[in-house]
Amino acid sequence: MARKPPSHRPRANKGKMSGSKTEGRKRSRVTSKPEQDDATRLLHTKVKTASGRKISSKLWLERQLNDPYVRKAKEKGYRSRAAFKLEELDDKFGLLKPGSLVVDLGCAPGGWVQIAMKRGADRVVGIDILPVDPVAGADLIEFDFMDDSAPRRIKALLGAAPDIVVSDLAANTTGHRQTDHLKTVSLVEAAAEFAMETLRPGGHFVTKVFQGGAEKVLLDRLKRNFQKVQHAKPESSRKGSPEVYLVAMNLQSREP
Ligand SMILES: C[S@@+](CC[C@H](N)C(=O)[O-])C[C@H]1O[C@@H](n2cnc3c(N)ncnc32)[C@H](O)[C@@H]1O
Repeated sequence: MARKPPSHRPRANKGKMSGSKTEGRKRSRVTSKPEQDDATRLLHTKVKTASGRKISSKLWLERQLNDPYVRKAKEKGYRSRAAFKLEELDDKFGLLKPGSLVVDLGCAPGGWVQIAMKRGADRVVGIDILPVDPVAGADLIEFDFMDDSAPRRIKALLGAAPDIVVSDLAANTTGHRQTDHLKTVSLVEAAAEFAMETLRPGGHFVTKVFQGGAEKVLLDRLKRNFQKVQHAKPESSRKGSPEVYLVAMNLQSREP
């Protein structure tokens, strides 16, 4: 089982590089120029602003085209670049054990589900408001985790207390900072509540949090109930992104 993604080393092929001027002209909207990456020589693809394309879409597309994790995810057949974040967290903290029962909150398009199964989980129960293509060994439901009946529906599928609850939940942003912050805080709190209620004793909880970590009240509560609580920023998490992950290990109690 290959745990580390292989480094990507494109073959030297100067004359036929997709970044050559001729090819760039043919594609008309995409031009490339060779650029030295940290570890490997990669192509930096620039996207011209076409009429009708917003600057934000242009920047998004350009970032996707030049993101080594997007490329590696494609190579490995992962559905998301986010898959590498769970791989890294698992490498660091040893969370996923063979035979585990895993709950994945906010699981679309399914990258974390793939990693959990690849690392030996027996079953994954996942939920997302978006549809998710099936993954062998996983029960995936299309439902709003913030709906009052969501925890009951997940528990009905589980059949036993999970070994680990992972949450990569991220609300659609509105652009209004306070509203977005409140939405995110609610998702993290709901995920933590669900984890502390359902996990087996000794179970683990991983959640995405934003803006410098979990809220103090929640963090204190997690510290009371788990043996070890730590924030971590995987390499694969974009440097400019305010996201960070909180890893709570070894559930000891369920104090309010
Ligand atoms: C960053 S993505 C998860 C990526 C996933 N870990 C992977 O590796 O493929 C966050 C997900 O949270 C989902 N989400 C946001 N709010 C939700 C809610 N209230 N209920 C269920 N899913 C939600 C979004 O639809 C989105 O698919």
